[in-house]
Amino acid sequence: MAVTKEQVMAALANVAAPDGSTLPQTRALSEVLVTDGKVFFSITVDAAAVKAWEPVRQKAEDAVRAVAGVQSALVALTAERSGGASRGPQPAHVATQPRAAGAPAAKPHAHQHGAPKEQPGIPGVNAIIAVASGKGGVGKSTTAVNLALGLRDLGLKVGMLDADIYGPSLPKLLAIKEKPKTIGGTRLIPIERYGMRVMSIGFLIDEETPMIWRGPMVMSALTQMLREVEWGTLDVMVVDMPPGTGDAQLTMAQQVPLRGAVIVSTPQDLALIDARRGIAMFNRVNVPVLGVVENMSYFLCPQCGTRSDIFSHGGARHEAERLGVPFLGEVPLHMTIREKSDAGLPVVATEPDGEHAKIYRDIAARVLAQLKGGGGAKAAPKIVIEA
Ligand SMILES: Nc1ncnc2c1ncn2[C@@H]1O[C@H](COP(=O)(O)OP(=O)(O)O)[C@@H](O)[C@H]1O
Ligand SMILES: [Mg+2]
Repeated sequence: MAVTKEQVMAALANVAAPDGSTLPQTRALSEVLVTDGKVFFSITVDAAAVKAWEPVRQKAEDAVRAVAGVQSALVALTAERSGGASRGPQPAHVATQPRAAGAPAAKPHAHQHGAPKEQPGIPGVNAIIAVASGKGGVGKSTTAVNLALGLRDLGLKVGMLDADIYGPSLPKLLAIKEKPKTIGGTRLIPIERYGMRVMSIGFLIDEETPMIWRGPMVMSALTQMLREVEWGTLDVMVVDMPPGTGDAQLTMAQQVPLRGAVIVSTPQDLALIDARRGIAMFNRVNVPVLGVVENMSYFLCPQCGTRSDIFSHGGARHEAERLGVPFLGEVPLHMTIREKSDAGLPVVATEPDGEHAKIYRDIAARVLAQLKGGGGAKAAPKIVIEA
């Protein structure tokens, strides 16, 4: 017998909110998702009221589990900072329908194009940069990690935020198995790794959470990762963004007060078309594109050291020049990068004297120069990286 949403809602009608109304009557309840006997939803409440709501979350979970046919129930309590007109993280139930770009905004302050300029930064965090790609699997996370480590090597205090809802990679790439601890039950302490402070959406969203539910959840999770984490003082925070250029990415780019974006692309044409969309997306929300990294640019044979341009290398550099965004460098396709990366031992941290580490550090230096120059829009400088 399949469980229906109506049955779940009926069960939730017996759960009282702190003000005495029933849970479905409050605005706190997100879309309720029922798939194959698994039930998921979130309750989004004011950060100050989290304590009062935790028993409600527990009761809601128990009530849903008691419904015949329910195999599991996951109820997330997410905190929303109160603060009236000047800020407004989207409650999960609003975020279920991301607004199409250009459509009128219900809350214009938070969603207008150009909003990043008006967005409150994170106290103590000097600059937030996004690492993005037009599609998945191009090495965005690998690049983000090694770029962050490169910035660390330049003497900066660095944080990393894994916002890739579709495939959080930082737990794997940085071999993080522990969950972050909290202070006072609400503020999360980032995990320290290789001298960086790290938070991943993988810590907040259960691996089993179905894809369709991630979209609605992500705004509150993102807000939590930005605002409810003890980031401390950081020179730069590197954000591993979800791949793609759709509404979800656009909304996210608008939610995070970004100083700039780094686009990762492979040399193939298709990837470049996607990369172009990425650049257009950041332009639309007035986030400067700090530059393009060509990943898997050429193949370096681990045995003989011979270089082959298997993916018609050079496309990204050419494209960057054409679009007038800086070209940040090319990273070879190399077994060591893959092995180290997937083993949670990123090359910049574990082989700091190697040729790959040097490439990433050079990229980091160019990113830093862009940040210092406040740039991103100007023509690409000629950069030569010797292989
Ligand atoms: N320059 C590279 N050389 C070899 N393997 C790479 C390189 N960059 C990424 N990879 C590998 O490609 C796969 C996808 O990379 P990942 O960073 O997870 O991509 P994304 O975050 O874009 O999905 C991983 O197995 C990673 O180790
Ligand atoms: Mg990834």
